[in-house]
Amino acid sequence: MLPTTSADLIPGDLIQLDHQATTPCHPLVVKAMEPWWEQDWGNASSRQHRLGLTAAAAVASARSRLASHLGVEANDLIFTSGATEANNLALLGHARARAQAEGRCGHVVTLATEHHAVLDPMHQLQREGFALTVLHPKDTGLIDANALKGVLRDDTQLVSVMVANNEIGVVQPMRELAELCQSRGITLHTDAAQAFGHLRLNRDELGCDLISLSAHKLNGPKGIGALVKRRNVSIQPLFWGGGQEQELRPGTLPVPLIVGFAAAADLAHADLETRQDQLATLRDQLWQGLKSRHPQLRMNGAPEPRLAHNLNITVPDVSGVRLHRCLKRSLACSSGSACSRGQPSHALQAIGLSRREAEASLRLSLGRTTTVADIHRAVDAISACITQLQGE
Ligand SMILES: Cc1ncc(COP(=O)(O)O)c(C=O)c1O
Repeated sequence: MLPTTSADLIPGDLIQLDHQATTPCHPLVVKAMEPWWEQDWGNASSRQHRLGLTAAAAVASARSRLASHLGVEANDLIFTSGATEANNLALLGHARARAQAEGRCGHVVTLATEHHAVLDPMHQLQREGFALTVLHPKDTGLIDANALKGVLRDDTQLVSVMVANNEIGVVQPMRELAELCQSRGITLHTDAAQAFGHLRLNRDELGCDLISLSAHKLNGPKGIGALVKRRNVSIQPLFWGGGQEQELRPGTLPVPLIVGFAAAADLAHADLETRQDQLATLRDQLWQGLKSRHPQLRMNGAPEPRLAHNLNITVPDVSGVRLHRCLKRSLACSSGSACSRGQPSHALQAIGLSRREAEASLRLSLGRTTTVADIHRAVDAISACITQLQGE
């Protein structure tokens, strides 16, 4: 029997505005992956025969193309199962290695608006004896170097700040933060899961030492990502095994997913600027359409600098539970991160929203296939629900 699809669960034509949770695989990505499942199914570590060598060559090509999009060397890239694992490897792996080298657990810093895939490993470090500061950004969601400077200590070893936020889309001034960290010998990690393929990123311009990536946010497959690491940054592995990925992430490489990741990155970078212009236009139409009908709506996070495909709004004085229940049949969107365990967004609360306001918030995220018609339908659907709830 075929597995249940979304059409079985909730019949009807759903407007898809949840592309920051994940994106559909691009047909060309599916096509690029195709031969690597059945035809060229070799293990990239099998160097004694052609099947293995062919797989290794595909991985090498994917690695160097991905690296080129960030201006790094192919060997700077370690494949992982996604950004969650890359964050864990970066944060736990680096902090532990540095603590071992320096003979003490130091201080680590992150933002209250980070994804749980950063916050949770940071709390794990705290349980292991590291001192943790969770810095609150301004109500725009942004921080500046002065705010970061204010919490740094002589023993600060590691700072983690995401390039672009997964809920409110704001883009942090990474270069400024990196200069501060560099001047103090502090390692800077960034979770770029939401930024890679949507903003042009160059590792040296960003100034980051460690960068986490995920393929499924850019029309690539789920289950593959990477940690990009400067050569001089030490990392302790989280797993031990067959020695793959410079012994930092052992395990048989998922060749089809790696090929798909590189294909998705190539596609995303081929039309990045024109796509972002189109998405920003659509996103602004969505916001203006909603705001003109419901002037009380509030946009969360700074309007700029912001990902072109993100809008996050609060509908004041309505029940979030009812709002989301009303929208469920017509619109796919979210109230916060897809990984928020059903809780109201911690990120929105960190920038000053009450729990009730956070619950009555919508993250509307557009994608490559979003059309003007989708935007009109979304405005109508959201507007109808707001009007209905206000009348109750
Ligand atoms: C900012 C951010 N970090 C990490 C993740 C997790 O990425 P992955 O699903 O590749 O583990 C996500 C996706 O939800 C995200 O938005």
